[in-house]
Amino acid sequence: MFQLKNVTRQFGKKIAVNSVTFDIPQGQMVGIIGRSGAGKSTLLRMINRLNDVSSGSIHFGDLEVSSLRGAALRRWQRDCAMIFQQFNLVPRLDVLTNVLLGRLNHRSTVLSILNMFTREERIMAIGALERLGIEQTALQPAGTLSGGQQQRVAIARALMQQPKMLLADEPIASLDPLNAKIVMDALRDINERDGITVVTNLHTLDTARNYCERIIGMAHGRVVFDGQPRDLTAAAVAEIYGGGAQIEESMTSTSISIPAAQDNQKSAGVKPLALAGL
Ligand SMILES: Nc1ncnc2c1ncn2[C@@H]1O[C@H](COP(=O)(O)OP(=O)(O)OP(=O)(O)O)[C@@H](O)[C@H]1O
Ligand SMILES: [Mg+2]
Repeated sequence: MFQLKNVTRQFGKKIAVNSVTFDIPQGQMVGIIGRSGAGKSTLLRMINRLNDVSSGSIHFGDLEVSSLRGAALRRWQRDCAMIFQQFNLVPRLDVLTNVLLGRLNHRSTVLSILNMFTREERIMAIGALERLGIEQTALQPAGTLSGGQQQRVAIARALMQQPKMLLADEPIASLDPLNAKIVMDALRDINERDGITVVTNLHTLDTARNYCERIIGMAHGRVVFDGQPRDLTAAAVAEIYGGGAQIEESMTSTSISIPAAQDNQKSAGVKPLALAGL
């Protein structure tokens, strides 16, 4: 069981996450939604300790995640893999090496620097690429792949960590609808077949509804909704995205057609959809 207890994060006077409390049973697939600035990324970053909490605590079973230091902290960051909107690959390194980098926390830095990955690790990496359907790209520089392929490489790298939990911060925000579906299907498969807890920030309601058994809605740093997709009524959606906003499900759909001007933004990695500016 994973637990957040009154977790708060301030940046100066700004309260990014405000006294958030919830539990996640092992193996759940959870979507976090909310308008820009609601605190979604900060919440994920505290879970894998890219950000520290200002107050409150985070627990995984008996482990107090929020106070880990040194080797124990690195072990947690291995157990709790994270993928990002911008993939965070090393573009000039080939795909296979990028995936093998997921093993870094499992071995000594010296061996890693010498690039001495074992035969077993290489076989495991190829297996991960095969699972994601991109084994044919293994020897290409990662930067030459399409966005959808790069995100699949990032997922393969995360799998190499053999994580207990997979965090994804807007994993499909830079992708076209087909690639978005491939990536979300991959996350679902990892959740269902491997029993790995998946927590993903999403900026499209329909994706959260389609893929997540549980949706957490955030507004102004607080949790304002926590339930199943069927409980997410129009009133709940209005509370999450702002009372006065005329929110329609279609506005937040990945399948809407994107005008040419926004398309340019999209390729530059900017969130393309209407909600990004809310
Ligand atoms: N490193 C930081 N320094 C100062 N303020 C920050 C920092 N990180 C986040 N914030 C602020 O905290 C609030 C929450 O930010 P966060 O990135 O968590 O929101 P978000 O829900 O992920 O938004 P988006 O949908 O745009 O990604 C925002 O007001 C943001 O400006
Ligand atoms: Mg964010």
